[in-house]
Amino acid sequence: MSELPDKRQVAASFSRAAASYDGVAELQRAVGGELLARLPADLAPRRWLDLGCGTGHFSRALAGRFPAACGLAVDIAEGMLRHARPLGGARQFVAGDAECLPLRDGCCELVFSSLALQWCADFAAVLAEARRVLAPGGVLAFSSLCVGTLQELRDSWQAVDGFTHVNRFRRFEDYQALCAASGLEPLELSRQMRVLHYPDLRLLTRELKALGAHNLNPGRPGGLTGRARIQALIGAYERFREPAGLPATYQVIYGVLRRPVSGG
Ligand SMILES: C[S@@+](CC[C@H](N)C(=O)[O-])C[C@H]1O[C@@H](n2cnc3c(N)ncnc32)[C@H](O)[C@@H]1O
Repeated sequence: MSELPDKRQVAASFSRAAASYDGVAELQRAVGGELLARLPADLAPRRWLDLGCGTGHFSRALAGRFPAACGLAVDIAEGMLRHARPLGGARQFVAGDAECLPLRDGCCELVFSSLALQWCADFAAVLAEARRVLAPGGVLAFSSLCVGTLQELRDSWQAVDGFTHVNRFRRFEDYQALCAASGLEPLELSRQMRVLHYPDLRLLTRELKALGAHNLNPGRPGGLTGRARIQALIGAYERFREPAGLPATYQVIYGVLRRPVSGG
């Protein structure tokens, strides 16, 4: 995949968004809920990991689903961890990077990760790390975003100034190929389109900022955004308007993979 923002910037952006995130995370709640529903029915982990836990909503959900298990939550953003820790769910909240986990081999039976891994440039490394920390027979369940996500915003900016103002996303086919090569056995890999609607563009961009998910690409133009460019952007986005409002499309991928019991 092409360049992604610097990890320190990602961590700082999500840390800043920790207090506002839960108020606008409607899509993130829905997607994480779907991912929970996709866990194998017979899964009974003794230890689970919530990877990219954010404010810890799904750490608390996992604790509810597996009350006898011991939970660990990892995120790259210290600000998110500070927010999540007092709310509980996991036994420990630890700073770490999905591409290089600060965890022992085979230390858990479930790695759960909702809408965090699209921030990792090296998805092969993420899969290798998940495989390493999973015990044989353990499950990696993740949701992430594919190409086509926020396409309306990308196309509108493109019409205005040709710059990359929207974070880049991997293709579904790349997720498929990387999962197939990971040494994990795919139980499910599927795609789902979700479309949110907004009365105006200001509300969409404000929400992306509150989520910490606004554009952090290295190629983004610096400096202030001029009033004329914003007006041009609003005009370009209006071409997409539907009866329900301005659409913002998300292409979500769900993956459930198992570490083979033997030889894996
Ligand atoms: C959109 S939030 C999702 C949070 C939570 N999983 C949820 O569904 O509400 C993405 C989270 O991934 C974290 N993140 C981004 N890159 C990461 C990385 N390389 N390693 C660990 N966490 C990362 C961010 O700090 C942020 O808290």
